Formats: sequence, structure tokens, C-alpha cells
Amino acid sequence: MLWLFLCVVLGDVLVATFEVIAPNKHLLAVRGRPAVLGCEFTPGPDLSSLVITWQRQEDSRVVHSFYYQQDQLDRQCPKYHNRTSLYVSELHKGNASLRIASVELKDAGWYICVVSNEKGTGRALMEVTYGALYSEPRLSFHVNSSALKMQFETEGFPKPEVIWLGEHNQNISHYMEIHDQTEDGLYLIKSSYEAQKPVVNVTFTLKNHLLNQNLQRTVCLSFDEDTTDHTIIVLAVLSVVCILLFIGIIGLAVHKQNKQRSSM
Ligand SMILES: *[C@@H]1O[C@H](CO)[C@@H](O)[C@H](O)[C@H]1NC(C)=O
Ligand SMILES: *[C@@H]1O[C@H](CO)[C@@H](O)[C@H](O)[C@H]1NC(C)=O
Ligand SMILES: *[C@@H]1O[C@H](CO)[C@@H](O)[C@H](O)[C@H]1NC(C)=O
Ligand SMILES: *[C@@H]1O[C@H](CO)[C@@H](O)[C@H](O)[C@H]1NC(C)=O
Ligand SMILES: *[C@@H]1O[C@H](CO)[C@@H](O)[C@H](O)[C@H]1NC(C)=O
Repeated sequence: MLWLFLCVVLGDVLVATFEVIAPNKHLLAVRGRPAVLGCEFTPGPDLSSLVITWQRQEDSRVVHSFYYQQDQLDRQCPKYHNRTSLYVSELHKGNASLRIASVELKDAGWYICVVSNEKGTGRALMEVTYGALYSEPRLSFHVNSSALKMQFETEGFPKPEVIWLGEHNQNISHYMEIHDQTEDGLYLIKSSYEAQKPVVNVTFTLKNHLLNQNLQRTVCLSFDEDTTDHTIIVLAVLSVVCILLFIGIIGLAVHKQNKQRSSM
């Protein structure tokens, strides 16, 4: 009799337990794309007492808040103005997920989802990591009487792995400059290769490991070694340039990565 009583009481306690959960503790967010920060809670019978606050953990800035059955954005940090929303039609199911419309570098960091309703109060913590796909590499040539330099320029985040491959897929040495462009959170990469031979067939490869981005651009060209007039060399080079575009596998395994990260 006593056991039965205990079980019933325990059962009630378990049922009444209020929980707030972030299903994805680590979210990979891509610059310029929307990000959905997942948050689930034990729903109450209606929304009248529901209070949701999304905050940055580092400094408690308000990212988004909701009470009295509507968004309350008076105290929202200006950086998030017009960029955040909740899925209001999902709230009754216990979905307090936050959508950020277009991700920027400043969105990277830790977020807290705080929810309370008549069943209780709870919070969940999650981390947002930022990445930016490298832009289409821009190719340029710099020619003088003794050398031909080709250079690719592209922007993205974080720092990439760059390899130049020769005709037989061997590594060839190259120059690389990495410039910080802190205002928009991108690195500017300038990578160049200096050709000595009259026939050149090289492949520039760039990998953004965070986003599984893999760019490959092959340049093949030949020029007349005997020509001494610079302008003629340039024209000759440009007229025979053939750029084979190996369409890069911009495989965004965001989902896969998130899974891996969550299990870490
Ligand atoms: C919440 O709802 C949105 C929109 O339907 C959905 O994309 C998201 O996966 C849901 N999140 C959770 C944690 O259920
Ligand atoms: C938000 O949007 C409103 C109307 O669309 C606009 O007037 C306001 O300037 C925007 N605020 C910011 C910070 O972009
Ligand atoms: C040609 O350019 C290369 C670098 O691109 C430089 O090292 C070399 O000194 C230049 N030669 C002349 C003659 O200007
Ligand atoms: C350049 O090298 C690549 C890799 O070895 C090869 O597949 C391609 O056919 C070559 N292109 C030319 C024009 O020789
Ligand atoms: C080229 O160098 C990179 C590192 O610099 C290395 O990971 C890669 O295996 C090398 N590839 C070849 C074909 O030697």
C-alpha cells in the first residue's frame, strides 16, 4: 500500500517536471544565412504565463524576449534589431527556438534560452560557431620580363588550408598573404604562384574545413619564351589562358557537423 502510494507520488513529480532543453549544444552558423537556435520546453495549457528570454551568456545582452503573448523588444540589444524571431505558432508545443535572419560574425558565442510558465522555470545553454564560405577566387596575372605571377584572391572565415598542385598533383611552393578584415569578420587571402616554365598547368586548392568547403581552380597556359616585348607577352598569355573550373564541392555538411559536435 505504502509502495503504491510512493509510486503514485513519484509519478506525479516526474510528470510535473519542467524542462528546458537545447537539442543542439553546438550550432554551426554560416554568414549571410539564417540560423535556428533550437530550444524546447515542457508546454503549459496555454501561453498566458509563458515568458521566453534569449540572452547572450557573456554579457546578458537581450537577444529576444516574449511575454504577455507577444514579442517584447524594448530591451533588445540593437545588434539584433529586425533580425530575430520566434516560431509563435509552435510555442504551444514547447518550441522556443530562435531564428536569426542573416548570420554575422558578432552572432558567434554563447546563448541562453530561459523559459518559464505555470509548470516552472528553466534554462538551456548553447554555443554558436561562425563560418563564412570563401568567395569565388579572383585570378590575376602579373608579368614582367623575367617572371609570370598568378594570384588568386578570396574572402572567407576561418583561415583556410591552401595548396597549389602541379601537373602531376605534386605540392608546389607558393606565396600567401592573409589579411584581417575585422569589420565584416572575413579573412582576405592572396595566394600566388610564380611560373618559370613556358607551359604552366597548376591547380589552386582551398579548403575551409569548418564548412567542408573545397575549392579547386586549375590554370593552364603557355606563352612564347622568345618574345621580349612585355605587352606582347601579356596579350599572348591572356589569349591562350584556359581556366578549367573544377566546380568546387561546396558541401555544407552543417547537419552532419552539428551531430558530430553534439556527440563530443
Ligand atoms: C521549432 O519549429 C521550427 C519551425 O517549424 C523548426 O524548424 C524547429 O526544428 C523546431 N524546433 C524544435 C526544437 O522542435
Ligand atoms: C527595422 O525595420 C523597420 C521597419 O522595417 C525600420 O524602420 C528600422 O529602421 C529597422 N531597424 C534596424 C535597426 O534595421
Ligand atoms: C619580376 O617580378 C618578380 C615578382 O613577381 C620579381 O621578383 C622580379 O624582381 C621582377 N623582375 C624584374 C626584372 O622586374
Ligand atoms: C593539367 O593537369 C591536370 C592534372 O594533372 C590534367 O588533368 C589536365 O588534363 C592538364 N591540362 C592540360 C591542358 O594539360
Ligand atoms: C601537400 O602538402 C600538404 C600540407 O602542406 C599535405 O597535407 C599533403 O598531403 C601534401 N600533398 C602531397 C601530394 O604531397
